[in-house]
Amino acid sequence: MKASRNSLPFRISLIFLLSTLLIEGVLFLLLYHTLLGERVVEEIDRLESRAESHASVLSTSFNAETIGHVARMESETDTKVAITGPDQEILRTSRQFPSVLSGIVDAKAATGVMDETTVLEEDWENEAYLAVRTPIGETAGTRYGYVYMFMPTEIIHGISHRLQLRFIYITAIALVTTILTFILLSRLISRPIQSLKQATERVLTDPDNLQLPTNRVDEIGELARSIESMSTELSRLRKERNQFLSDLSHEIKTPLTYLRGYAEIASKANTPDALKEQSIQTILEESRALTELVENAFQFAQLDENTFLLQREEVDVDTFCADVGRMMSTMFRMTSIQFQHQPTGQKNGLSLSLDRHRMLQVFRSLAHNAIEHSEAKHVTFSSNVTTNELRLTLRDDGKGIPPEDLPHIFDRLYRVEKSRSRQTGGSGLGLAIADQIVHLHDGSLNVQSDKTGTSFTVSLPLLKSTPN
Ligand SMILES: Nc1ncnc2c1ncn2[C@@H]1O[C@H](COP(=O)(O)OP(=O)(O)OP(=O)(O)O)[C@@H](O)[C@H]1O
Ligand SMILES: [Mg+2]
Repeated sequence: MKASRNSLPFRISLIFLLSTLLIEGVLFLLLYHTLLGERVVEEIDRLESRAESHASVLSTSFNAETIGHVARMESETDTKVAITGPDQEILRTSRQFPSVLSGIVDAKAATGVMDETTVLEEDWENEAYLAVRTPIGETAGTRYGYVYMFMPTEIIHGISHRLQLRFIYITAIALVTTILTFILLSRLISRPIQSLKQATERVLTDPDNLQLPTNRVDEIGELARSIESMSTELSRLRKERNQFLSDLSHEIKTPLTYLRGYAEIASKANTPDALKEQSIQTILEESRALTELVENAFQFAQLDENTFLLQREEVDVDTFCADVGRMMSTMFRMTSIQFQHQPTGQKNGLSLSLDRHRMLQVFRSLAHNAIEHSEAKHVTFSSNVTTNELRLTLRDDGKGIPPEDLPHIFDRLYRVEKSRSRQTGGSGLGLAIADQIVHLHDGSLNVQSDKTGTSFTVSLPLLKSTPN
C-alpha cells in the first residue's frame, strides 16, 4: 500500500487524529485542573478543620498529656502535626516527623496572620507538603502556642500521575484507531480509486478490457459506471470517426483520379483541341465537386464536435415560411419540376428561435435532393402548426427511396445509388448535415417514402404555444 502523504486516506486519517487529540487534550486539561484543583482545596480544608479541632482541644487543656495525645493521634495517619509553644518552639511532633517540616515551622514562624488559621503552603506541584497553622486559644491575653499540620502532596501527585497515564493510554488508543482508520480508508477509497485510475488510463488504449468496479453501490460505483459509459461512447465515436475518415478518403480519391486522368489528357500535345476543352471542363467540374465535398465534410465535423455555434434569433413563423417558399420557388424555377407552396392560414403572433441562415440551408438541401434524386414532376411545400411545434413538409411525387435504404439516408456519405455517375454529384452528406442542424434547434427531421414519392418533414419547437 502506498502511504503517500498526499493520499486521501492519509489526509482524512491525519484530520481524524488531530481532531481526536485536540478534543482529548482540551478534556484532559479541563479534567486535570478541575479535578486536582478541587482535590487540593478539599485536602487543605480537611487539614484546616483537623488543625482547628486539635487547637480547640488544646485550648481547653494545654498540657503534656493532651499534647502527647494529639501527637499520637496524628502518628496513625498520613498527616503530620507539630505543636509549638507561643514562641514557635516545637513542643511535640507526631511520629516520624521529617526534619524538613521542622524547617518549615521555623521558616514560616513569623509569616501570615498569627491569630487565626492560616494556609502556609498550598503549592502542591513544587512542595512536598501542604501546610496550615492554627493558633491555640488564649486565656487573659496569653497564647499557648500553635498547631502546625502537614499533608504530603504525594497523594495529589499520585492522582496527577494516574491522570497523565490515562492521557497517554487514550493517545495510544487514538493512534491505533487512526492507523486502523487509515488502513480501512485505504481499502475503501484508495484502492478502488487506484484501480479506477488505472482503468481510465486504459480507456484510450484498451477500452474493451476496463475491469471497473461498476457493481459497487456507492459513489465509486457511480463513477465507475460513468467512466464505463464514457468509454463505450468514446470507442463508438472513435469507430465512427475512423469509418468517416476512410469513407471520406474513398470519396476524395475518386475525383482526384478523374482530375489526374483528365489533366494528363489535356496536357498531351497530340490531344485534339475539342477533347482538351472537354477535359478542362471536366477538371473544373470535378474540382468544384471536390471543394464542395471538403466544405461539407468540414461543416459536418464541426457539427459533430458541437463547436458549431448557432446564431439564433426570434423569427416570425409566417415570415419564415414565406422566405423558405420563395427560396425554393426560385430553385425549382430553373428546373422542369412544378413547385407549389401551400400556405395554410395565418399563424399570427407565433415565432421560432432559430439560426435563419442554417435553417434555410436545410431546406435548400431538401429541395436540391428533390431536384437531383427524385425524378419528380411536382413538388409541394406545406406548413402546419401543432400545439407546440411548426411542421414544414416538402413532398415530391418522384420515384421514392427503396425501403431498405430509407433507414440509412441520414447516415453520412450514404447514397442510394452508390455507383451513381459523377454528374448527379452529391457527397451523401447533405441529409446528415441537415439532420444535425435540425437537432441543434431541438427539432426533428423525418422522412416518409414509397413508390409514389417522398416527403421530408422538419418539426421545430415554437417559442409561444398556440392559443387553444
Ligand atoms: N427526394 C428524394 N428522392 C429520392 N431519393 C432521395 C431524395 N432525397 C435524398 N435521396 C437519396 O438519399 C441520398 C442521401 O442524400 P444526401 O442529401 O444526404 O446526399 P447527396 O444528395 O447524395 O449528396 P449532397 O447532398 O452531400 O450533395 C441521396 O444520395 C439520394 O439517393
Ligand atoms: Mg443532397
